[in-house]
Amino acid sequence: MNEMNVMNETENMDERKVRISWQTLREKYIRFFTERGHHEIPSASLFPENDPSVLFTTAGMHPLVPYLLGEKHPRGTRLVDVQKCLRTDDIDQVGDDTHLTFFEMLGNWSLGDYFKDESISMSYDFLTNHLEIPVEKLAVTVFEGDDIVPADLESKAIWMRNGMKEEQIFPYGRKENWWGPAGRTGPCGPDTEIFYDMGKPKCGDECGPACHCGKYVEIWNNVFMAFSKNADGSYSTLSRKNVDTGMGMERILIAINGYRNVYESELFQPLVHALETLSGMRNEGEFELAFRIICEHVRASTFLLGDPKAVAPSNSEQGYILRRLIRRVIRMARKLGMRENILGHLAEVVIRQYGEVYPELVHNRDYILEQFAGEYGLFARTLDSGLKVAEKYFSGLDDTKTLSGDLAFRLYDTFGFPIEFTMELASEKGLRVNLQEFEEKYRQHQEMSRLGASEKFRGGLADDGEQTTRLHTATHLLNGALRRVLGEGVRQRGSNITAERLRFDFSFDRKLTIEEIREVERLVNQAIDEGIDVECLEMTVEAAKRGGAVGVFEDRYGETVKVYNIPGYSMEICGGPHAKNTSEIKSFKIGKEESSSAGVRRIKATIGTGP
Ligand code: SER
Repeated sequence: MNEMNVMNETENMDERKVRISWQTLREKYIRFFTERGHHEIPSASLFPENDPSVLFTTAGMHPLVPYLLGEKHPRGTRLVDVQKCLRTDDIDQVGDDTHLTFFEMLGNWSLGDYFKDESISMSYDFLTNHLEIPVEKLAVTVFEGDDIVPADLESKAIWMRNGMKEEQIFPYGRKENWWGPAGRTGPCGPDTEIFYDMGKPKCGDECGPACHCGKYVEIWNNVFMAFSKNADGSYSTLSRKNVDTGMGMERILIAINGYRNVYESELFQPLVHALETLSGMRNEGEFELAFRIICEHVRASTFLLGDPKAVAPSNSEQGYILRRLIRRVIRMARKLGMRENILGHLAEVVIRQYGEVYPELVHNRDYILEQFAGEYGLFARTLDSGLKVAEKYFSGLDDTKTLSGDLAFRLYDTFGFPIEFTMELASEKGLRVNLQEFEEKYRQHQEMSRLGASEKFRGGLADDGEQTTRLHTATHLLNGALRRVLGEGVRQRGSNITAERLRFDFSFDRKLTIEEIREVERLVNQAIDEGIDVECLEMTVEAAKRGGAVGVFEDRYGETVKVYNIPGYSMEICGGPHAKNTSEIKSFKIGKEESSSAGVRRIKATIGTGP
């Protein structure tokens, strides 16, 4: 679709004035950076591959971590993309003007190529000349320095040389101007953040970009990623200096098109209109919060379910977040007086809107609608009685106004109320929930591993580099063995590794027999006993495919890809890292084989531990 068509279509679809549509913005951004030597890379999955440090892809840099740490990227040292992201940290802020769980991040990277000067100058040029945002509407922040890294006077000077006035530049400390790592460890560094001034008056003398009053909205972040945080909390200097930038799609549309909030953007308007039609209500006044939460969470859930590595709603990890989002939508819909399942209708709007850019949504349409209907069916049944019981519990509270963990657990266990859901119910009445007690109860009940519920709910999983690497290699051996035992039709549908175990989802339509499980285990252990060197080869996608390599993520790569080969057992397109020799895995044991969702099986397995 060319630019004119996009504009006309958008204008017809929605009569508000759109100076630059979201599709045009994507094109302009990619073109600007490709014209400056960057290679475009496709958006990776929302579910990080073999990365135990986060549940979701939270930034465009995420799939690039190995390259930021020093590996050579097949597409060179300058990259650009638009990456779909999901941030669970912001769930509670959804409903304000600018915070979202799901969003698209426009990002450009220098892997040891340009640094501060070119990065800042390109950002300035793009915003002020190509998007024509008046320079006086911008403010930037720079790192003020601490005992580890000195003040970033260089960035300040570059901003001023480009045309920013000194009073538009704000120095802040580590809390505001240090980005990363995304999980517990990994690449990070001081940043310079770009803000758009919404034109509201300052809320006080101290008001500046770090203030949350709504005057300043962060639109773009340029991270000078020259450090890596280690597990012991110390920092190492990376062998080369990288730049990692990220710009939020909806927020930059606010700056370009003069919207007051992200819901006024054309990315949300079709959803808002559909919900107005369904509910017979207007998105305003006391209903606005429910409208915003429904639209935001439906969009996020549709992208989670439409991802090539989609999970189903469940009680753990990513599936739990998905469940929380969906169940919150169901209650918000009740608040608007809707008892029917509106999820499917709204998901169709999202699929129509984004289908051209993200064809996986169209491809997985049936799965999305099925899962929404299933989750609605499960929760709608228990919601009313659960709400009644919660009401009874709340009205019986003493002066502490705190619901015990025990009762919160009953709401979870009997009625499927996620703890955050109960906390939201409570806080709407000025009450609290004893979270610690709930987590204790949950832990006892689930006999969960030492990671515990609270850590998991917040998305931080343990990290242990070497064990994770060995589990990753074991995952390749498992994939190879499954294909040998069950047939070449087996396809990887997802993989997740913690320091303790690997989890592997694959397409297969029935339970495995005991004999099959034994045979898969035997093959993997045989590969381990043979002590085979793991080879890493670089080749074109075509050569990799011709050579029989498997890899579900090949569209993430450019012309050259890395292929990890364990001769005789496995050959996969993969970014690594891997064990050097299969003997490092020591032993392999399948703990569980179960259904993950329709047509998808899940295996959890452990390997030998120790140095
Ligand atoms: N990683 C940085 C951020 O998320 C820049 O993309 O803000």
